[in-house]
Amino acid sequence: MTLGPGGPLTGRLRVPGDKSISHRSLIFNGLATGSARVRGLLDAADVQATATALRRLGVHLRRSRGDLVVQGTGGVLQEPGAPVDCGNSGTGMRLLAGAVAAHDLLVVLTGDQSLRQRPMGRITVPLGRMGARLDGRDQGRLPPLVVRGGQLQGIRWENPVPSAQVKSCLILASLGAAGTLEFREPHRSRDHTERMLGAMGVSMRRDGDWLRVPCGQQPHCVDVDVPADISSAAFFLVAASIVPGSDLLLEGVGVNPTRTGVLDALWSMGADITLEDERVVSGEPVADLRVRHAGLHGASWGGELVPRTIDEFPVLAVAAACAQGETVLTGAAEMRVKESDRIAATVAGLRALGVDADERPDGFAVQGGPLRAGVVDSVGDHRIAMAFAVAACRATGECRIDDTANIRTSFPTFPALLAQARSA
Ligand code: S3P
Repeated sequence: MTLGPGGPLTGRLRVPGDKSISHRSLIFNGLATGSARVRGLLDAADVQATATALRRLGVHLRRSRGDLVVQGTGGVLQEPGAPVDCGNSGTGMRLLAGAVAAHDLLVVLTGDQSLRQRPMGRITVPLGRMGARLDGRDQGRLPPLVVRGGQLQGIRWENPVPSAQVKSCLILASLGAAGTLEFREPHRSRDHTERMLGAMGVSMRRDGDWLRVPCGQQPHCVDVDVPADISSAAFFLVAASIVPGSDLLLEGVGVNPTRTGVLDALWSMGADITLEDERVVSGEPVADLRVRHAGLHGASWGGELVPRTIDEFPVLAVAAACAQGETVLTGAAEMRVKESDRIAATVAGLRALGVDADERPDGFAVQGGPLRAGVVDSVGDHRIAMAFAVAACRATGECRIDDTANIRTSFPTFPALLAQARSA
């Protein structure tokens, strides 16, 4: 992808459906009783991989007037008979592992080169404690995963890192278990699972930091209207903030407080973003986001902001490069085990564009300064590729971003929408 500096971002646009909610709408309805219509599902490779995996497990999915209709299995899954490919998606693999763990089936879950390097001990250990038999490379720590489901028992589990994927995996396993699941994490992760399963009739209770879920509950299908993905909107929030003259409206964006760290991070730098027409859609807060160019200053990020922002730090690092002064991120070591080592890839990309940036074990330090022309390696990571496409909008010359094909995993229409906003 080759991009150069250009005009302001203006007009209005709607980025595609939320990836986390899209995965959940298919998996949860697939396990539930009845049928449901999903509107605004993200049409991208990660969600397609989950849809294909669910079909292999016996879930019936069909397109209808641009929506997807899911016929629930009522929890009766079928054995796939061959490995199931989760593509590039950690959410797909970890949630599906939980979904099948309480079923008397043998399921092999695999994925692409990147997914096969991602840590799975975080789910194989607690699922094993619940009574499932899981194996994988490196003593169950790496995919492919072999899941032999069976009779499970709820456990009390303190997760060492905030992770909605681990939390959701264990909640899904609890649906077919006995007893109670109790789950705690150091900071609250995104709560789409609690909201959607709650709407499906699954009761759970928050007791301070502990989430308690009575096991053995059967969800019923619910229709879902998927909001626009704030993690995709983030690229436009930063692009419009850093390119002078920009004034852009992003329609129908999910603003669940467990996901809006990118807004808080940008506000902490002096960004001009306002929420308009706030409403609730399918149990999720939604708003139109208006973003105008602003002079940014450096900031310091860490603590509870981190899980609410985790996928947005690469593009926020680009905002930091355009800000006055230093920006420091701490407490974000989880970035190293995403689709790539995103701390290393972000810092290497900024340096390739002439920015003074340093890696920290759990974050980065970025000095504001001009972004120059250069060549950036996105290391096959969709969010690194898009973050540096945004950087190119404010660079002093043309930038080439290599290895960008994986943009299709989360946001295939990104190049077209960016071109549209720049020429509106
Ligand atoms: C996700 C949770 C986060 C996030 C990922 C999607 C989800 O991962 O980074 O892109 O849909 O539950 P963790 O659960 O590993 O924090």
